[in-house]
Order: sequence, then C-alpha cells, then structure tokens
Amino acid sequence: MSSDSAEITLATLRALKRTGGKFTCLTAYDASFTRILDAAGVDVLLVGDSLGMVIQGQDTTLPVTLDDMIYHTRCVARARRRALIMSDMPFMSAATPVQALTNAARLMQEGGAHLVKIEGGRVMADAVRLLSEHGLPVCAHLGLLPQSVRKLGGYQVQGREQRAAAELLEDAKILEQAGADVLLLECVPAALAARITVATELPVIGIGAGADCDGQVLVLYDMLGVTSGRRPRFSKDFLAGRASVQAAVEEYVRAVKAGEFPGAEHAYS
Ligand code: KIV
Repeated sequence: MSSDSAEITLATLRALKRTGGKFTCLTAYDASFTRILDAAGVDVLLVGDSLGMVIQGQDTTLPVTLDDMIYHTRCVARARRRALIMSDMPFMSAATPVQALTNAARLMQEGGAHLVKIEGGRVMADAVRLLSEHGLPVCAHLGLLPQSVRKLGGYQVQGREQRAAAELLEDAKILEQAGADVLLLECVPAALAARITVATELPVIGIGAGADCDGQVLVLYDMLGVTSGRRPRFSKDFLAGRASVQAAVEEYVRAVKAGEFPGAEHAYS
C-alpha cells in the first residue's frame, strides 16, 4: 500500500489504521540516510532528539536544542521525496502552550517538518489543543519519556502497574480529545499498547510496545547495529547478514508490514 510513490500524509496513516495495514517509521537525521530510507519505502521519518545521543554523543537527549532540531530536520527535508517528516520538540521547548506553538511553527517553517512530536501525558493537553486549533499536527509521545529520564531515574518500562496502565490509557484519550493526530508509545507492556491502540481512532506508533500498534519505529543506528553499548531488547540488528543499509531497511519495512517484527522477544509484559 505505502511502497508506491504516493506521498505519505496523515490521511495515509489514518487509512492504514482503518484497514488494519501496518506502517513503518525510522529515525533520520541527515540527507544521505534519508534518501535510502525514503527509497526503501519507510513511511515516516522521525527526526528524533535521540540525535543528541547517536549523533552528538551526549548521555541523554536533554542537551538537544531547538536549533539542532531545525538543522537536522532541514537536512532530512532536502532529501525526502515521499515519507512524512515528524520532528521532535526538544527538552523544554513546549513548557507552555504558547512556547509550544512558537517552536513547533519554527520546526515546520524553518525545518520543513510535517508534524511535531511532543513528550508528555495530560500535562501537554493545552499545548496540543493550541497547536491543533492553529492547524499544526501533533504526535503525542506517551510511556517512557526520555526527556524525563532524570526524574524517572532511568529508562524503565512504563505502565506495568494497574494504576499506571489506567493513567496511560486515560492520557491517550485526553490527548486525542485535545486534538492530537498520532500517538507514540515507548516501552509499555504489549497488552497495554494493544488496548490503547484499539481504544483510540488515532494511528499509534510503537517502540518497545509490541506488535499490535498500527506502526513501528526504531532508532536507525540501533537497527543497523552501530549503537555503542547494549542494544535495547525491543530493537533488532537488521544489517546483520545483509550486504547493504538499503537491504537492511527494506527487510525492516517488509517485516513490519508482514507483522513479523516486532516478535514476542522484542516486547515487554
Ligand atoms: O528521539 C527518538 O528517536 C524517539 C524515538 C525513541 C521514538 O523519540
């Protein structure tokens, strides 16, 4: 469905959700990889603030600035032909609704993002509402929030306890009501992600959230096996045994669309 040359829009993702088709997302930070990902049929390119870690060599995503995000989004936008470009609102760039609107507008106007991603639950509802009212599309990122790692004390699976799971489900509904266009669930039990995916009309992208989300995302460097240190459980080295980055990305696209990735071994309970 999405491997043809038609441009991907939010309408494409909504249609895939309605028909039960899966879509693919990978992080992209520069023009060269963008060309490969776009040609391989990746539907959504996430200019993630993970660039702070995989490109800049920072310990967390917290030092990434809005100017960094605009710069990398522009690099991706120059090379992209077909995929939808989603850019992260970096740490504290959406601390108030007005700040969120101003900074999201810069990511779209100066960077060329098609939608922005904001980390946070119901606390971000006013910001999401303001962006939505002004016609700026938003992905609400729930579950593990890497920008809150200092408060969380580490990168742990979220929503395992009954109360936390109920809160996450409620957050998803509140953000949908506020006007979010897409949800992203990071590191939540597969059964909870499946419940949220059924409970919302929004396309849901998962990372470490099991196979039942509408779409999947991975950090590009993790799935190419070039991340230093231990690869997260939810990721897989798609380059292992393949001759090129293009072949690795094509296999990722195929495996997600066929429902073969992620497997049970990549999910949390
Ligand atoms: O910044 C990023 O790459 C992300 C993904 C982990 C979803 O937000």
